[in-house]
Amino acid sequence: MIQLKSENRQQFCYWLAHVKLSRIVVTVLAILIFTPLITHFYLSKVERNSSTSLNSARFHLDLSDEFSSINEIDLRVGVEELVRIRNSVLSELRNIEKKRQELKQELQTFSKNVEEAKLDLAHHQNNLNKLKISVEQAQVAQQEALQENTPDLAAPKRLTSDTLPPILQPIPRNRSVNCKMFSCFDHSRCSLTSGFPVYLYDPDQYPVMHDGWDVDGFLKTTLKQALGLNPHLTSNPAQACIYLVLVGEALKDADDAGENGEIFPPLDSEALKRLPYWGGDGRNHILLNLARRDLSANSGDIFSVVDTGRAIVVQSTFTRRRFRADFDLIVPPVLGPPGGDIWRECAPMLPARRRYLLSFQGEIKSNKSNVRHVAYPRDRDDVELNSFILDHLRQLVKTHTSDQISLEFECVPANDDFMDTGPQDWALCGTDSSRRGVLKDSTFVLIFAPASDELLSTTLLQARVYEALRAGAVPVVLGGDQVKLAYDEVIQWRRVGIFVPRTRVTELHFLLRSIPDEDILLFRRQGRLVWERYLSSVQATLDTIIAVLRYRMNIPALPVETVTAVSVFNNTFQPVLVPPAGELEQEESLGPLEPSYNSPAFRRNFSLLLTQGHEVWNDWGDPFRLYPTLPMDPILPSDAKFLGSGRGFRPIGNGQGGAGKEFSEALGGNTPREQFTIMLLTYEREQVLLDSISRLRGLPYLHSVVVVWNSPRPPNPELRWPDIGAPVHVIKAARNSLNNRFLPLENLQTEAILSVDDDAHLRHDEILFGFRVWREHRDRIVGFPGRFHAWDLNTKNGWLYNSNYSCELSMVLTGAAFLHRHYLHLYWTWLPQAIRDKVDEYMNCEDIAMNFLVSHITRKPPVKVTSRWTFRCPGCPQSLSEDDTHFQERHKCINFFTQVFGYTPLLNTQYRADSILFKTRIPHDKQKCFKFI
Ligand SMILES: *[C@@H]1O[C@H](CO)[C@@H](O)[C@H](O)[C@H]1NC(C)=O
Ligand SMILES: *[C@@H]1O[C@H](CO)[C@@H](O)[C@H](O)[C@H]1NC(C)=O
Ligand SMILES: *[C@@H]1O[C@H](CO)[C@@H](O)[C@H](O)[C@H]1NC(C)=O
Ligand SMILES: *[C@@H]1O[C@H](CO)[C@@H](O)[C@H](O)[C@H]1NC(C)=O
Ligand SMILES: *[C@@H]1O[C@H](CO)[C@@H](O)[C@H](O)[C@H]1NC(C)=O
Repeated sequence: MIQLKSENRQQFCYWLAHVKLSRIVVTVLAILIFTPLITHFYLSKVERNSSTSLNSARFHLDLSDEFSSINEIDLRVGVEELVRIRNSVLSELRNIEKKRQELKQELQTFSKNVEEAKLDLAHHQNNLNKLKISVEQAQVAQQEALQENTPDLAAPKRLTSDTLPPILQPIPRNRSVNCKMFSCFDHSRCSLTSGFPVYLYDPDQYPVMHDGWDVDGFLKTTLKQALGLNPHLTSNPAQACIYLVLVGEALKDADDAGENGEIFPPLDSEALKRLPYWGGDGRNHILLNLARRDLSANSGDIFSVVDTGRAIVVQSTFTRRRFRADFDLIVPPVLGPPGGDIWRECAPMLPARRRYLLSFQGEIKSNKSNVRHVAYPRDRDDVELNSFILDHLRQLVKTHTSDQISLEFECVPANDDFMDTGPQDWALCGTDSSRRGVLKDSTFVLIFAPASDELLSTTLLQARVYEALRAGAVPVVLGGDQVKLAYDEVIQWRRVGIFVPRTRVTELHFLLRSIPDEDILLFRRQGRLVWERYLSSVQATLDTIIAVLRYRMNIPALPVETVTAVSVFNNTFQPVLVPPAGELEQEESLGPLEPSYNSPAFRRNFSLLLTQGHEVWNDWGDPFRLYPTLPMDPILPSDAKFLGSGRGFRPIGNGQGGAGKEFSEALGGNTPREQFTIMLLTYEREQVLLDSISRLRGLPYLHSVVVVWNSPRPPNPELRWPDIGAPVHVIKAARNSLNNRFLPLENLQTEAILSVDDDAHLRHDEILFGFRVWREHRDRIVGFPGRFHAWDLNTKNGWLYNSNYSCELSMVLTGAAFLHRHYLHLYWTWLPQAIRDKVDEYMNCEDIAMNFLVSHITRKPPVKVTSRWTFRCPGCPQSLSEDDTHFQERHKCINFFTQVFGYTPLLNTQYRADSILFKTRIPHDKQKCFKFI
């Protein structure tokens, strides 16, 4: 009983804390009164029940006198009454206990609700803050729109000529020999927005050579074909800005031409005047003489006795007298294949120093009797200088230095039928391939300028330069100060070769020896760039000629082609959008949730070539196409955004700076506001993909998500696509290829592209941190998984791919990396097809290819951000990249790409970007830039 009581008290105490006071008072009173009574009765009853009749005497003795006098029946009634009371109290107690339990449960639910409400509040507070920031951003944008006084120009209407050139009086010969663009070219046919239409006279329909002469059939076909691939070609002569006339190679043997030594020009000037759009004087006509055979051997210049009127002459042989600077154009002869992967022609760039320091192969004709110099007699001084140079060079070969110099002056003359010696005083030697062998073994190659200073350029000179660059031998042009090389108004030849006056021949050896490996490689690299881009093939030559003429007039190139984005969805099959389940990824406010904002594009159409034309032609640029933006676009000084050029900038704290709070409300940095696009490549892993997309909900600065659907099977219509607040485009790929990771799709509207694997799991703060770092390194790959290329110490003859953790890396995988949209275009237009083929062959290596490309163009390593190295999601199906063949293929890829590039462009880096306030002690009232990284 005592136990029972104390237990009750304990429970009361517990209860006391929870039940209302009035209830407690009543209950306690009831218990205090009744408990002793019951106890008494109970005790006596037990006593009595347990005792037998033998004990009844003692019972009577124990009772006091008053009690004994009470009637036994009355007592019984009383006791029964008490028992009844007790039972009712017991049941009351049980009820109360039950209620207590219920209340307790209720209480627990309430407190749980309170917790939830608190969380909700924090969440809403957060959302509210985000919305406030977004409203502020919208206000800034509105303010900007109001203040804007230099609106973006709308796309101009394409303005082309609509009439054929009218017939004008031909200009006198003494004017045409002094033609310049301003005096002889009709700019009215070529508006800035015309797109530079080019018309080609079909050489079969409009022959301009005399009977019996003809443009080489092969050349004719390839030229027509190559021009067909040029986007400027038009079939409408009324629209055209320029008219191309193929003058080309004459096949008839020159010796048959004239009787009595009379010079008979193959070009028919009457036929020129009969051309339907000649307009009397040949305005805006381009006479293309891409002959590989130097006709000038016999006639000096096929145009020399022909009145070309106001037409521009394009060829490789010019005399100083005939060449009209800034009007005519010097080009190399077309020597290469029609087009295609020309990298196979090139020699590797390394080692920097090759077997021969200097080489020359040719037959110097000291005895002039066997050359007819009709047009260019030489004077005596020249002959003397020449023999001095020859003597000096012969001496040089014999000097006892460690340098090997190979100079062959008497050799079997070349019998290549494509190249005559022309008015040069030396001939080619050997066959094309034997010359190539020596060139590939030479660091520098000697090239003589034509002896006659009347000659500005000859086919032979241009061809020798072409050969040298193809083989990676740095051309050293003796007499280089008196000649002009091809396209010299745009190409900076000083970076490609060494041009010295003849009289410096005595210092030549010293000069060449003094050049360190780095500069040899710079020369070689630049030579290869110029060769590949402008000289290598028929296509390259024609594109360059058109681009140079266009560049003279500052008419922008045509925009680069994008890939049409075909959605996997259609009208009858639309995705079902559902809000993704689960909490938002993060409660940290990382930035305003703005509506999609496209990066401004094509703003420098008419100024890029003026301000950066030099770089475009000689460095990173592509003068053949117009790109929406470039990673190398210049940035404004930091005060410009406060002094009138501020549109689009989002300085932190309006320029006042600030700690974490202000930081997370603006993009800051040196470039105007922008957003990024996430590009995902996926193949039949639908749930993995959907999970990845759901995690992007509420990600600030996210413009849109572009999913490249690599599988031929369309997505399951049952799929529930998450609604993440930003548009998700699912694009059908033409075929299953890893190259599709870099498709330059038309719906990529931002400069920044975040390329991610479909199973990569990046936190929002990591993504945004990467984005902010990328904004400072717009020309590089900025991302998370770092890898490196390691020299194979076993074979000592190539590279191995290494994915171990390391303190130095040279690649950042595009499975989780930011890169500029420009590189997607370059991946398809600039990279040789062989590389994309290799990627398809192995179904691997596209990320290595991209690293090669970007490092090649920038000569900078990628940037690694934060400590993340891997992204494979636990529980996802094993990805194919784990097994051994994957690594074997990647070793092979690096070595193959090195062959294609001619060297390994990858560069090592020990740099890693982390949030600057990481682990920094800052005041309590401040907040770190990011909470967790
Ligand atoms: C006491 O004994 C009587 C008869 O002897 C019986 O009816 C009653 O149930 C008993 N009470 C108890 C509490 O054992
Ligand atoms: C620049 O060129 C592109 C492509 O042709 C065109 O879309 C854009 O509107 C042009 N911009 C201006 C300002 O001319
Ligand atoms: C060109 O020749 C014409 C006659 O043939 C002459 O009248 C004119 O002065 C000459 N012009 C120049 C610039 O020499
Ligand atoms: C739309 O797409 C679905 C699924 O790919 C396909 O079955 C259907 O035929 C398509 N409808 C049309 C009109 O193309
Ligand atoms: C990577 O590291 C492991 C352990 O340190 C080592 O056994 C392995 O050989 C390394 N792999 C490569 C490719 O270097």
